[in-house]
Amino acid sequence: MDRRVALRCLLPLCAGLAAAATSCPQNVNITGGTFTLSRGWAPGSLLTYVCPRGSYPSPASRLCASNGRWRSPGSTPRPRRTEAKATCRPVRCPGPIVFENGVYTPRLGVHPVGSNLSFECDDGFTLRGSPVRRCRPNGLWDGDTAVCDHGAGHCPDPGVSVGALRTGSRFGFGDKVRYSCSSGLVLTGSAQRECQASGVWSGSEPVCRQPYSYDLPEDVAPALGTSLSHLLGATNPTRTQEGSVARRIQIQRSGHLNLYLLLDASQSVSERDFEVFKDSAVSMVDRIFSFEINISVAIVTFASKPKIIMSVLSDKSRDVTEVTYRLENANYKDHENGTGTNIYEALNSIYLMMNNQMVRLGMQTAAWQEIRHAIILLTDGKSNVGGSPKPAVNSIKDVLNIRQDRMDYLDIYAIGVGNLDVDWRELNELASQKDGEKHAFKLPDAQALRQVFEHVLDVSALTHTICGVGNMSANASDQERTPWHVTIKPRSQETCRGALLSDQWVLTAAHCFHQAEDRSLWRVIVGDPSFPWGKELLIEEEVIHPGFDVYAKRSQGVLEFYGDDIALLKLAQRVQMSSHARPICLPCTMEANMALRRPQHSTCRDHEAELLSPQSIPAHFVALNGSKLNINLKTGTERARCVEAVAQDTQTFPNLTDVRQAVTSQFLCSGMENDDNPCRGESGGAVFLERRFRYFQVGLVSWGLYDPCQGAPNKSVRRKAPQGAPPPRDFHTSLFSLQPWLRQHLDGVLNFLPL
Ligand SMILES: *[C@@H]1O[C@H](CO)[C@@H](O)[C@H](O)[C@H]1NC(C)=O
Ligand SMILES: *[C@@H]1O[C@H](CO)[C@@H](O)[C@H](O)[C@H]1NC(C)=O
Ligand SMILES: *[C@@H]1O[C@H](CO)[C@@H](O)[C@H](O)[C@H]1NC(C)=O
Ligand SMILES: *[C@@H]1O[C@H](CO)[C@@H](O)[C@H](O)[C@H]1NC(C)=O
Ligand SMILES: *[C@@H]1O[C@H](CO)[C@@H](O)[C@H](O)[C@H]1NC(C)=O
Ligand SMILES: *[C@@H]1O[C@H](CO)[C@@H](O)[C@H](O)[C@H]1NC(C)=O
Ligand SMILES: *[C@@H]1O[C@H](CO)[C@@H](O)[C@H](O)[C@H]1NC(C)=O
Ligand SMILES: *[C@@H]1O[C@H](CO)[C@@H](O)[C@H](O)[C@H]1NC(C)=O
Ligand SMILES: *[C@@H]1O[C@H](CO)[C@@H](O)[C@H](O)[C@H]1NC(C)=O
Ligand SMILES: [Mg+2]
Repeated sequence: MDRRVALRCLLPLCAGLAAAATSCPQNVNITGGTFTLSRGWAPGSLLTYVCPRGSYPSPASRLCASNGRWRSPGSTPRPRRTEAKATCRPVRCPGPIVFENGVYTPRLGVHPVGSNLSFECDDGFTLRGSPVRRCRPNGLWDGDTAVCDHGAGHCPDPGVSVGALRTGSRFGFGDKVRYSCSSGLVLTGSAQRECQASGVWSGSEPVCRQPYSYDLPEDVAPALGTSLSHLLGATNPTRTQEGSVARRIQIQRSGHLNLYLLLDASQSVSERDFEVFKDSAVSMVDRIFSFEINISVAIVTFASKPKIIMSVLSDKSRDVTEVTYRLENANYKDHENGTGTNIYEALNSIYLMMNNQMVRLGMQTAAWQEIRHAIILLTDGKSNVGGSPKPAVNSIKDVLNIRQDRMDYLDIYAIGVGNLDVDWRELNELASQKDGEKHAFKLPDAQALRQVFEHVLDVSALTHTICGVGNMSANASDQERTPWHVTIKPRSQETCRGALLSDQWVLTAAHCFHQAEDRSLWRVIVGDPSFPWGKELLIEEEVIHPGFDVYAKRSQGVLEFYGDDIALLKLAQRVQMSSHARPICLPCTMEANMALRRPQHSTCRDHEAELLSPQSIPAHFVALNGSKLNINLKTGTERARCVEAVAQDTQTFPNLTDVRQAVTSQFLCSGMENDDNPCRGESGGAVFLERRFRYFQVGLVSWGLYDPCQGAPNKSVRRKAPQGAPPPRDFHTSLFSLQPWLRQHLDGVLNFLPL
């Protein structure tokens, strides 16, 4: 008999292989919540409980064992308990156990969500940290640990975090302090810290947390960015108080990053959780590649054994299309015959990959030594096969020659995403433990991970050479989301909008300007982080399309005609690029080609096909109040339906024989279904699309049949179109149809592709 097979079947997690003769009982309801089953009532099925926000399920999940009984899916089978009824319990924050040299109120063991905890110091001591902390819905306190310090030590008093106990009360150079958590809580961070010569404690602050607590994006973001920031070039880590580091992924064009994504596909992680891991990984990959930097991505899925989906040794690991394709096609079922959790082997496969790359590039070469490495493990911890992952981590550190001065070349993050019952101890052990940094997290969903990623990206070092980058954080301001957006003031009033195409050129509509005006009064208001309403710039030169003539077709029953409604403004000074002012991508340029990640020899036609090909294309424009509103551009046969409504507006178009007289092929059409309609003052603004986390301007707001702002009380209100009137329609000057003119005036500013 094959001994290895026999051994493997002794493992409890082989349950899924057993003949499905039995099934588990169905009396598993949870009070106040719901549950899902990964494989119905059959052995191997994972049951996951879900509770409303502010509460958590106890137990979090159960596994249907081969003997037809439910048991805990934990790493070690526990002695069978009498099956307790599952309940949703309210989330609580732990109370302090000790607070030295001061008092705190209220003195409770646990605290409900939303309650406050206040700290005060005895005379002679100064309070560091937060005097009042609030219990958040994730079971963690906001703010920082309060410490009453008299500043006598070589290192500051490290304090005792809520729920922890400390031994060691001397804070001189070389002194050590140790922490433990009160029962029921798990420790993340460093259980032991040493006062270093620099006056900073080694390691990171221990946090005692409820096993069910999870992290919020705003807590994770600064921590996750730490590693990746250095990966892409020289940065200055900014140390905030008490040595906590706020480094972020600084997006630069120098340096090379190897990003290794390890996705847990073991049985304790259900197929649904695995899909969440995949989604999270895809959006991380897509976002990081959106910055046109040098990066290779390895992908490994693992259960009892790892499976290498993409290796950094492959050239394809630098190709985002290939990486995302492989990631999307990673299959949970690949691990159906070995559903244990072998984190050691998974990390070891990364070690082997690194070793091969080192051999290939040469150990002493800069090409090898300058690569930064980040490992992101998406897992619930709970390894149960292969022993401790520590030796693999040590091999990785050896091959990368991680010493004190090379700490920044490796980061390991262990992240649980989704409705998982994570093993905090394991997550904490796996993750790298650098001074003042935190590398183990649990996030509620893929959206939260995406938000985290958004916050760790620091694109301040990107210059005008990169177009179409907007901030996609839920917290970003309107101007940060659409940093190309500008306001134009030809007279004393703001009348039009426009878009930055470079640090000096603005694209807008021709109809915003009356030829006879005093141009010295014109201003363009550009986003600027130091001025809430932006910065006013003078105009050096204006280029209004000579073909624009609103009266050109009067005699044909078109009282107003908007052909060639396009203008360019050259600003008198270059715009300081920032998070609030950055150009949008203009299709048919090399800049846009890079952003679309298209092959080098693409043409303008290819861009048009890629950006405007389905019959209804979701797009946006910016409203008067700065919000991004939604429209659908109609092409093909849908366009004809969109355009024909013009005939019903007999006021503007008396005696119109053919709608094409008013709506030439220069126009994109929107306004059907539930589209927003642009208002009068929004003319000239960009009509843009998002592709792969970048923004592309395909048109500019020109004219429409209905003005929803007319008679509205303020900039934030739009009125619905009245029944019976011509249906609302909006027309946007297409930038594809005005290519020759754009090329004529922007030659040398942008690099155009062949038509
Ligand atoms: C569990 O709940 C469902 C719906 O709430 C109910 O239909 C079912 O009878 C319950 N089962 C048991 C065993 O209580
Ligand atoms: C906690 O403090 C904040 C202000 O610090 C206050 O707004 C809030 O009402 C307090 N909550 C409770 C439950 O006392
Ligand atoms: C977003 O804004 C909210 C409210 O201002 C704040 O509490 C939260 O920390 C912010 N989130 C992030 C990720 O910065
Ligand atoms: C980035 O990659 C490109 C193409 O692979 C290469 O030409 C360039 O030198 C790399 N840049 C750096 C800084 O490694
Ligand atoms: C699992 O084992 C079965 C039976 O040996 C085999 O048919 C199947 O292909 C295996 N699955 C995988 C993903 O290797
Ligand atoms: C987006 O905005 C948030 C909040 O202002 C900021 O913390 C973050 O760094 C920005 N991210 C990018 C990619 O600009
Ligand atoms: C429309 O046609 C009518 C008669 O066919 C004519 O009287 C009128 O002047 C025309 N209007 C315009 C604006 O051309
Ligand atoms: C705009 O007007 C509406 C309706 O009168 C009102 O509810 C809203 O608060 C106003 N908004 C602003 C920003 O003034
Ligand atoms: C801005 O205006 C639009 C309608 O024009 C409205 O839907 C949106 O809620 C407004 N945004 C804010 C922040 O008031
Ligand atoms: Mg597992």
